Amino acid sequence: MLDKQITIAIDGPAGAGKSTIAKKVAEILSIEYVDTGAMYRALTLKVLNEGLDPKSTEDVKSIIENTSIDFRNNHIYLDNKNVDKEIRENRISKNVSYIAKIKEVREAMVKIQQKLAKTKSVIMDGRDIGTVVLPNADFKFFVVASVEERARRRYKELIEKGEEGISYEDIKKEIENRDRIDSTREISPLVKSQDAYLLDTTGKTVDECVNEIISIIKGDS
Ligand code: C5P
Repeated sequence: MLDKQITIAIDGPAGAGKSTIAKKVAEILSIEYVDTGAMYRALTLKVLNEGLDPKSTEDVKSIIENTSIDFRNNHIYLDNKNVDKEIRENRISKNVSYIAKIKEVREAMVKIQQKLAKTKSVIMDGRDIGTVVLPNADFKFFVVASVEERARRRYKELIEKGEEGISYEDIKKEIENRDRIDSTREISPLVKSQDAYLLDTTGKTVDECVNEIISIIKGDS
C-alpha cells in the first residue's frame, strides 16, 4: 500500500489504546509494529528476576550493559529468551516507570529504537516517540482516553488473562501513579509533540480510531 519508507509515531498514557490501534494500522499498511514499552518492561523483568531494586539507579545501571533486548517477528526477547507473556504481568506494570526514568536506560533503549526505524517503515508506540526517538516521523499521533476508561480496559485485560488478587480501584491507582511518574520525569517526559494529532479514544471503537489514522495517513482528511 505504501510506495516509500515511512515512520509513524504513536504516544500517549497507559491503556489509551495505542498498541491495539498500532497493531491494526501496521497490518493494514503491511509495516512493522514496534512496541517500545515492551523493551522497558523486559528490562524491568530482569531487574525483578535478579532480585534488584527497581527504584535504585545503581542496581538498574549495573545490568544494562550485560542485557540484550530485541524484537524478532513482533516478539520481545530478553537475553535471547521470548518474554512476551511475563512482561504483561502486573508486577512489571507496577515497577516499569521507575526504571524508565533512568537516563542510562533511556539512552540504551532509544538507540535500539532508532536503529529499528532506520531501514524500514515502522509504526512505533511509546511515550517519547514523536518528541525524542523519531522527531522527524512522517506522522505523529497522541492517543488519550479518560483514566476511568483506561483502568477499565486494563482491568478487563488482566482478569481475562487470569491474573488474581487485583481490583479495578487498584489498577486505576496504578495507572494514575504511572501517568504521574511518566509525565513528570526529568528526561523525555510524556508530553504531546506540538505537531502530533490528538486522538481521544474514549467511547470510540478500535475500528473507528484505526480508520481515523488510516485516512490521515492516506491524506483523505
Ligand atoms: O506502553 P506500556 O504501558 O507497555 O509502557 C510501560 C512503561 O514503559 C510506561 O509506563 C513508561 O514508564 C515506559 N515507557 C517509556 N517510554 C516509552 C515507552 C514506555 O518511558 N517510549
